[in-house]
Amino acid sequence: MAKITASVYTSHVPAIGAALDLGKSEEPYWKKVFDGYEFSKKWIKENKPDVIFLVYNDHANNFSLELIPTFALGTGESFEPSDEGWGKRPVPTVQGHPDLAAHIAHSVIQDDFDLTLCNKMEVDHGLTVPLSLMFGQPEAWPCPVIPLHVNVVQYPVPSGKRCYELGKAIRRAVESYGEDLNVQIWGTGGMSHQLQGPRAGLINAEWDNKFLDRLINDPAGLSEVSHIEYVREAGSEGIELVMWLIARGAMDEGKTPDVMHRFFHVPASNTAVGHLILENPKD
Ligand code: DHB
Ligand code: FE
Repeated sequence: MAKITASVYTSHVPAIGAALDLGKSEEPYWKKVFDGYEFSKKWIKENKPDVIFLVYNDHANNFSLELIPTFALGTGESFEPSDEGWGKRPVPTVQGHPDLAAHIAHSVIQDDFDLTLCNKMEVDHGLTVPLSLMFGQPEAWPCPVIPLHVNVVQYPVPSGKRCYELGKAIRRAVESYGEDLNVQIWGTGGMSHQLQGPRAGLINAEWDNKFLDRLINDPAGLSEVSHIEYVREAGSEGIELVMWLIARGAMDEGKTPDVMHRFFHVPASNTAVGHLILENPKD
């Protein structure tokens, strides 16, 4: 059977991608960010997944205000990086895993979560920046990736509770897949940031760190936090953090995960960068 062994959480700031693509990662401002991922790059080499299930949000690049799915699963063979206004990022095409994705779609939809299925879509910085942070700049991404887009751009957004429950349904789906596969689930976005309006530039490091503590130790309690608290405390784009609850919900239930790595840094562009690697305890 396939098994989710670990979850990775990281912010997904576009300027991080640009810093890498333009060869600026050794500049002092950016080095402080990339240093927080040195452990992670080693860890992932030693813990290479067969497939990554990557939860992210599109930022009106593939989808637009004309069509806004709440949860959209990438069931296609491959996904090209979007042109976000400055050309496509010079990163490899993302290869999907249509067979596992189709199985997950069947299981999760029959488990009462209505997913939109995307046989064709492009992926923006929300998905490619986490891959770059973890894998650096390879010729090809080392494994297939199944994208799950979550709408956190246009209200109404899904609740933390629904995201956490969806994570559990994804775990049930993965565990009912016949082939032995080592699957990781990644949650991206956040931490506190607000890109617009009078509060643009808002950072709340104290709230962010409590979020990290609770994500590890009290995910069910954390899933009760209302969307208005995210917006008030972590800014309008801080709501991206509900996606981390999908990844956390997919971890083994009732067990405290092993914290392999924790990193927090302010700022990267307008955002507080948070990063965690959690492993399911080995039996
Ligand atoms: C920034 C952060 C984001 O999450 C995003 O999607 C776009 C921009 C930023 O900090 O600049
Ligand atoms: Fe974002």
